[in-house]
Amino acid sequence: MYIKVENVSKTYDKTIKALKSVNIEFKRNKITGLIGFNGSGKTTTFNIIANFIEDYQGRILLDGKPFNNETRKKISYLSAGAEPKNPMKVKKHLYQIASLYKVPKRKAKEIIEKLSKEMEFLQFLNMPIKNLSKGNQQKIKVITTFLNPKMEILLLDEPFDGLDPIMVNKISNIFLRLKEKTIIITSHRMNVIQKMCEEFYILKDGIIIDKKKIDNNIITIATNLEIPLEKIKNMDGVLLTKKSKKENLIEIKNISYFKKINKILIKNPNYKYSTIKEKNIAESVFEGYGEENVWQN
Ligand SMILES: Nc1ncnc2c1ncn2[C@@H]1O[C@H](COP(=O)(O)OP(=O)(O)OP(=O)(O)O)[C@@H](O)[C@H]1O
Ligand SMILES: [Mg+2]
Repeated sequence: MYIKVENVSKTYDKTIKALKSVNIEFKRNKITGLIGFNGSGKTTTFNIIANFIEDYQGRILLDGKPFNNETRKKISYLSAGAEPKNPMKVKKHLYQIASLYKVPKRKAKEIIEKLSKEMEFLQFLNMPIKNLSKGNQQKIKVITTFLNPKMEILLLDEPFDGLDPIMVNKISNIFLRLKEKTIIITSHRMNVIQKMCEEFYILKDGIIIDKKKIDNNIITIATNLEIPLEKIKNMDGVLLTKKSKKENLIEIKNISYFKKINKILIKNPNYKYSTIKEKNIAESVFEGYGEENVWQN
């Protein structure tokens, strides 16, 4: 299934333009990232897809058709925000949700216990939700998304909020295991976006400003600032050059181009060093907006 967000605009309170004619295509069987600055419109986009917001312009299409009551049931939405004051026991809460989805108790037990075991959560099932830490409350939401037996579309809004790095790894693997689902994820953790997504969109002030494919072959060479980049910029295999405060950064398609480019760098009389930097494409998207870096091309 693919979801198309077509010319979608949303204005809150007649004045706050949260989305301005947004066009996105979320592909079937893929995990697509939606990243961007705070208040850029990510959650609004999710709420529109999930039909929590009905008052908007544009269209949301599933395989080319508007959602209907049946197709909407395929959506599992892990929304941002917690329920810190809920006094209900975790288990009871989860079984209630399962029964809303008409999942037989035995099946619900199986899902809850398997995921709880994986997330080291079994010992919390009998506790009131309000007594759980933020990260452990987040695990309840993860389990909830799996209780929808019709789930084919997964909207994950900050699913790793509050989770420790080991748990982020475990839970991202749980989502990566899913097959033949259309998954959309927002996260401010760029390393997770890099790991989970094949492509991602970047929102800023309600506008899609860029779309990137994640290619884990791409690497960045860092070299000292004194080397001019004009010659390098146009070499075969070079995708991008930029200057940070400290050094020159050269993005190349893959390692096979490294030798040739490095030869040129070494020949320069100003050469001091060249190293391969650990690369995170998702992270580098934000670099151009910080004070540290200036885009060159
Ligand atoms: N219910 C609301 N009423 C009025 N304005 C709202 C409402 N919800 C969101 N907004 C505004 O719409 C814009 C987009 O907000 P949204 O929550 O979609 O951003 P976001 O990208 O999810 O941000 P974050 O990274 O902080 O979660 C912001 O300017 C926000 O203040
Ligand atoms: Mg949000």
